[in-house]
Amino acid sequence: MVLEGKKILLGVTGGIAAYKAVEIASRLRKKGAEVHVVMTREAARFVTPLTFREITGQPVSLDMWEEPAHWNVEHIALARMADVCLIAPATANIIAKAAAGIADDMLTTTLLAVKAPIFFAPAMNSAMYENPVTQENMAKLQARGWHKIEPATGHLACGGSGVGRLPEPADIVREMEETQARGKTLAGKKVLVTAGGTLEAIDPVRFIGNRSSGKMGYAVAQEAAQRGAEVVLVAGGTVALADPPGIRVLHTESALAMREAVLQEAADAAVVIKAAAVADYRPKERAKQKIKKNDAELTLVLEKNPDILMELGARKRETQILVGFAAETQNLLAYAQEKLKKKNLDLIVANDVTCPDAGFNTETNLVKIIGRDGSIKELPLLSKQKVAKTILDAIESLQK
Ligand SMILES: Cc1cc2nc3c(=O)[nH]c(=O)nc-3n(C[C@H](O)[C@H](O)[C@H](O)COP(=O)(O)O)c2cc1C
Repeated sequence: MVLEGKKILLGVTGGIAAYKAVEIASRLRKKGAEVHVVMTREAARFVTPLTFREITGQPVSLDMWEEPAHWNVEHIALARMADVCLIAPATANIIAKAAAGIADDMLTTTLLAVKAPIFFAPAMNSAMYENPVTQENMAKLQARGWHKIEPATGHLACGGSGVGRLPEPADIVREMEETQARGKTLAGKKVLVTAGGTLEAIDPVRFIGNRSSGKMGYAVAQEAAQRGAEVVLVAGGTVALADPPGIRVLHTESALAMREAVLQEAADAAVVIKAAAVADYRPKERAKQKIKKNDAELTLVLEKNPDILMELGARKRETQILVGFAAETQNLLAYAQEKLKKKNLDLIVANDVTCPDAGFNTETNLVKIIGRDGSIKELPLLSKQKVAKTILDAIESLQK
């Protein structure tokens, strides 16, 4: 319904998945949208403009210098006309050009003038996708408010498998609809998220740590920011991810340092989501100098760290929502339900870290979201971004 009567600018770029854009155009049209396609020269090598013209019933723009179809200055007219813009597939090249503000063809010039929301669906070989320069360029676009549609993982046209596949057209259209319908639902709310594992120092060079990468917490923070929240992200010492754009990131190392940052920031937060894997114990003594090896056994005495989640639960204001995570290797449901009660949580996200492709340092997660009211929502194996969306949907429904 949200796309009905909307004028959608569909940018198609020169990737092998360009053929899927035909189905996207068709689906958007069936939703009642008016679809205007702008193609790059390279895209036209994969699919002809004629195909899009027939599917959309509208002229297709390709060249800035040819006779305009409707308007005098076509790229400006197209940009003004658009209610929503989608670039699918988005090549590494268009992402780089848009990030740099280059305007050397019809699509890039139009994009520079667009004021409507812009969605982009990166699709490319996984090495191109994971290249830090592509990651930086995508982060720049997201910082400017562009909505990234996460690529799928699986078989790639270049052979092999990995991240970088264009998601199915139906999923792309659904994500656009959901985002458009949702709007800035968390505007004016402060959301505090913790992510990653803590590092507990043994001596100046050694520590006790865990395998948490922080990816789940970062995905939650980014989703909350997309929904308009003021997000503060407290990262633990194991995190090696780039700071997400538009989010205040506080880097900490140990559980004690994380506790200090979290308690300070939680006081005025509407929502606190504790995705960090905080060490339960720390070495009692931290050696001032590097411990030297000798023939004797080394015994480390560990003392308990404070339970940050428990403290947050005890201090929780009536209107504040507190969400915990439970990563377990056995008795998942029982442990998670017990933790929810004991720590006064509103929701707990439970994941069995023994499952392949789920838990620490993976791109996907397999979780159950358990509510204070006893509800259990079991999700299939999903990308951490999709899990993050579901967690925030659950939080928003509690706020209603
Ligand atoms: C057969 C073939 C497939 C390609 N597939 C992709 C792709 O999936 N993603 C991508 O970023 N680039 C891909 N490229 C490279 C782009 O076509 C190239 O970077 C081009 O300059 C993109 O131009 P555009 O962004 O203006 O459309 C492919 C090239 C060829 C020859």
